[in-house]
This record gives sequence, C-alpha cells and structure tokens, in this order.
Amino acid sequence: MAWNYKTEVEAITEDLGDISFEGKRILITGGAGFLGSWMCDVLAAQGAEVICVDNLASGQKSNIAHLLPTKRFTFIEHDVSVPIGFKEGELDLVVHMASRASPFEFEHFPIDILKANTIGLMNSLEIARDHDARLLYTSTSETYGNPQVVPTPESYYGNVNAIGPRGCYDEAKRCGEAYVTAYQTQYGLDVRMARIFNTYGPRMRFDGIYGRAIPRFLDQALHNRPITVFGDGSQTRSFTYLSDQMEGLLKLAALDSAKGSVVNIGNDKETTILELAKTVLELTGSSSEIVYSPLPKDDPLRRKPVITRAWELLGWKPKVPLGEGLARVIEWQRAFCFNK
Ligand SMILES: NC(=O)c1ccc[n+]([C@@H]2O[C@H](COP(=O)([O-])OP(=O)(O)OC[C@H]3O[C@@H](n4cnc5c(N)ncnc54)[C@H](O)[C@@H]3O)[C@@H](O)[C@H]2O)c1
Repeated sequence: MAWNYKTEVEAITEDLGDISFEGKRILITGGAGFLGSWMCDVLAAQGAEVICVDNLASGQKSNIAHLLPTKRFTFIEHDVSVPIGFKEGELDLVVHMASRASPFEFEHFPIDILKANTIGLMNSLEIARDHDARLLYTSTSETYGNPQVVPTPESYYGNVNAIGPRGCYDEAKRCGEAYVTAYQTQYGLDVRMARIFNTYGPRMRFDGIYGRAIPRFLDQALHNRPITVFGDGSQTRSFTYLSDQMEGLLKLAALDSAKGSVVNIGNDKETTILELAKTVLELTGSSSEIVYSPLPKDDPLRRKPVITRAWELLGWKPKVPLGEGLARVIEWQRAFCFNK
C-alpha cells in the first residue's frame, strides 16, 4: 500500500485512546516543522481549530500544504521572537515548538535559536497568560548535555558547556525551562515541559539542514554513498519514533494531572550509532560502506532516559521498535523524496 500520512495520524489517534482535543482552539508555534506539522495533523483530525505560527526557518510549507485549504486551520508566517499581539478569540492551549534544532543550525544560526527559546517563548507565555490557556513547551534531552548520570532521570541537573558549539541550543532550552517555571511561579500559569529525546519519522528533512544521524544515514544509504559515522560509533542515542513521541506530547498536553511537570519523552532502548548505521544498511539493502570521521566537540557520549515519570503520569511508554520505525521512514522517503 502506498504511504499515506493519514495512516500515521490514525495510529496516533488510536494511541491517544479517550484523549480528544475536539472543539479546542490551539496555537502551535513551529507547526510547519517535522514534529509540529504532525501535531497540527492529529489535532485537526480530532476536530480542534489549529493556528500554526512559523517563519519557515527550518520548517516547510509542504508539511502543512494539505491543511491550508481546510476551515479549521490557519497558517501565520511569523518569527516568534517578534510579539504577534495575538488577542482574537479564546485559546485553550499554546504549544511552543518553534526553534531550529539541529547541529548544522547550532553552527549557523545560534542567535536565532537563543531568541526563539527565550524572547519567542516569553511571547508565547504572554499569549497563554492573556488567554488563560495551558502551555506546553518542547524542551530537549540536550538540557542534560553530556550526562554523567545514565540512564538520566528528570532530576539530573545536566553537564552542559555554555560556550561550546552546542551551548546556544542546550542553554537556550535550559533558560526556556526557567522561563516556563517562572510563569508558573509568578502567574500560576498551567504549564508542562517535555524533554524530547531524538525523534525520527516521515517529514524529517533529508537535505542536510538537520545534520541528524538518521536522515543523514538514510540519505547516504539510499544513494549508495558512504555512511559517515562520527568517532568509533560507540556513542549511543535513544531513538523515538514519531507516533510514540506524538502520543507522549499530546498526553502531556491533555492530562490535568501533568500540570507543572517536566517529563522525559524518549525511548529507553539505547542504540549505538554504529548499530544504527548497520540497521540502516540492512533495511535499505544499500551497498554503501561505513566510513569514520572525528567525533564533533561536545557530542554527548550517551543518551538513555529514565521514563518512569512518563509511565506513572501519562501511562506512556514507546512501542515502535527501531527497525519498524525506520522501515516506515524508508517507505515515505522512497515515495516522496525520490519520486518528485
Ligand atoms: N526532533 C527531535 O528529535 C527533537 C528533540 C528534542 C527537542 N526537539 C524540539 O522539538 C521542537 C520541534 O523540533 P523539530 O524536530 O520538529 O524541528 P524542525 O526544525 O523541523 O521544526 C522547528 C520549527 O520551528 C520553526 N521555527 C524556528 N525558529 C522560528 C522562529 N523564530 N519563529 C517561528 N518559527 C520558527 C521552523 O521553521 C520549524 O518549522 C523544537 O523545539 C525542538 O527543539 C526536537
């Protein structure tokens, strides 16, 4: 059967069980990006009214093109670090996802990243405050930096180099978490924060802008070009498939009991980068060889979350095995990236 985004949306909706956003009015910043566009899709399919604010810095209009003609979806091209004065109508939920989020961008757009997660986030918090709406902030496992505690629980404070190549992102997100906490403390705003671990799925960009391992390896494998592994490939990541990530994020946004929480949303199955490269080779049947290049400075050596809180608070744990998730991405990639 040909790849269809509706299959993913249906799977996520099923994972959500009784949780529904029908009739809610929701603002999503960064909604034209990889994760944001899937959130727009699921919420629109559930009957929510969705307003997507995005400056298309790393997002793509093609991710939301199918939603543009629909009545309950609005797209506003706008940089979140400039106040938008969003007053009209009632909002129930603000999701702040807007931020460039990849190593290539850390190098080229560090100031934009800092602004999106501080000034931009504050603008979203003010909108939530004006509307007495709930706010979900997408933070990151990168707040842990190169962790000395693995598996890493939410209580770990992190090991971050503020002036290193990843500092703009890691510290922006840490500062973002402090902003969100401050709005809760000072104004009693209903907030939630997700520390997202590496997530992959259809709509990841394959043009190199992300510089993330999965799109890079898949692109190299499908073009039979050498797969570039940094270091000896023994560094680990926890890879979460898109549908699992969406289920976790939307449960965190929906459940009253999650008010004020910060929650790791990531796979507790640790995978080495070399294992990942070999799995990609096997699944694509590629003739690419693996080549090694130096480990980038401050690249975290291990990523593995403790996900007890997500289970206890949200009843969430990841379900999709890496091989199955990668196979779905390959199916999408073959359909959309090669047949244009
Ligand atoms: N995908 C992951 O593995 C992962 C891991 C940890 C955290 N996150 C967080 O999740 C969120 C979404 O990430 P993603 O993977 O979908 O990345 P993405 O780059 O695909 O999406 C980010 C979106 O934000 C938009 N954006 C960036 N700066 C903006 C600005 N100043 N004003 C308005 N829009 C702006 C981009 O155009 C893009 O559409 C980000 O906040 C990211 O930090 C993602």
